[in-house]
Amino acid sequence: MKIVVLNGSARARGNTAAMVGAFREGAESVGHEVVVFSVARMDIHGCLGCEYCHTKGNGACVQHDDMQQIYDVWNEMDMLVLASPIYYGSHSGQLSCALHRTYALGIPHKCTKTAMFLSSGSPGVYDASRRIYSGFVQGYFRTEDMGVFTAVGDEATSPEMRERLRSLGASL
Ligand SMILES: Cc1cc2nc3c(=O)[nH]c(=O)nc-3n(C[C@H](O)[C@H](O)[C@H](O)COP(=O)(O)O)c2cc1C
Repeated sequence: MKIVVLNGSARARGNTAAMVGAFREGAESVGHEVVVFSVARMDIHGCLGCEYCHTKGNGACVQHDDMQQIYDVWNEMDMLVLASPIYYGSHSGQLSCALHRTYALGIPHKCTKTAMFLSSGSPGVYDASRRIYSGFVQGYFRTEDMGVFTAVGDEATSPEMRERLRSLGASL
């Protein structure tokens, strides 16, 4: 299976990266290919809402930036994972930009599973991201929900969370 992870954290050794790393280890241990895009470290602009993609562009975005790397695998992935820190009650702006830009291609052709990993400083701050995940991502793509995994502070790097996410990856 080809698994694409969009990580909305800019911190390469941060909490979100630890969650992604544990999942990746498990998935790769059973032979899956995992491609992680650190979207907060990429040059990805927000959607302009110009509709070029759905008119003259025939699926191509009018903007030429690092989003092209994600477009290149969009219709090849079997699973999509959204990972992010919580910023002001939602996932990061960089992850939102990347998500909005997938509007150009729409529903991925082969993707049958989705999951979300969220890290935060406080508990109970996940409602906005859960709503977007279950409504616009899992609901729109009609994928099997593999779960929303949340971690407060050091929970993200705890042996328990590491094992949960490693097991998720290995169970696919
Ligand atoms: C700009 C900013 C906004 C944040 N807003 C929230 C918030 O609204 N609620 C919360 O619980 N944590 C908030 N946090 C804390 C982060 O979500 C938390 O430290 C997270 O684990 C960081 O993940 P990372 O190490 O992958 O970057 C915020 C952090 C930053 C930098």
